[in-house]
Amino acid sequence: MNIDFELLMNKAKEASKFSYSQFSKFAVGAAVLMSNGEIYTGCNIENSSLGLTICAERCAIFKAVSAGQKEILAVAIYSPNQKDCYPCGACRQVMFEFQAQDDLFVITEAEEGLHIRKLSDFLPYGFRI
Ligand code: THU
Repeated sequence: MNIDFELLMNKAKEASKFSYSQFSKFAVGAAVLMSNGEIYTGCNIENSSLGLTICAERCAIFKAVSAGQKEILAVAIYSPNQKDCYPCGACRQVMFEFQAQDDLFVITEAEEGLHIRKLSDFLPYGFRI
């Protein structure tokens, strides 16, 4: 499949506008492209009970999985607060669980444009049962 990385990043940017992050004031949006071509978006959602926070990436991935889509081809991540916003360790492991064909693209945005990397760059030797 030909992946439109720009489109995916634009969807992540749109999703970051819905971020509920009044505690950290750090907004994040994510968009995941699944193997059936569908795109699901998510934002970080915080809570007064701070440990209940969910990251944008897992929000998007869980939307996809709960709609029956379990094979991620690519994930775009965007924060208006930080260039090249990388996924946290927990989100890397969740991506690992649902990666299509043993890897997926991770797209971030730096000053000079999009960075397109593989999950295996971020998480070699992920855990699997
Ligand atoms: N956050 C994400 O949404 N994704 C990440 O990969 C890193 C962290 C959120 C969680 C929290 O709401 C805020 O960023 C600050 O940690």
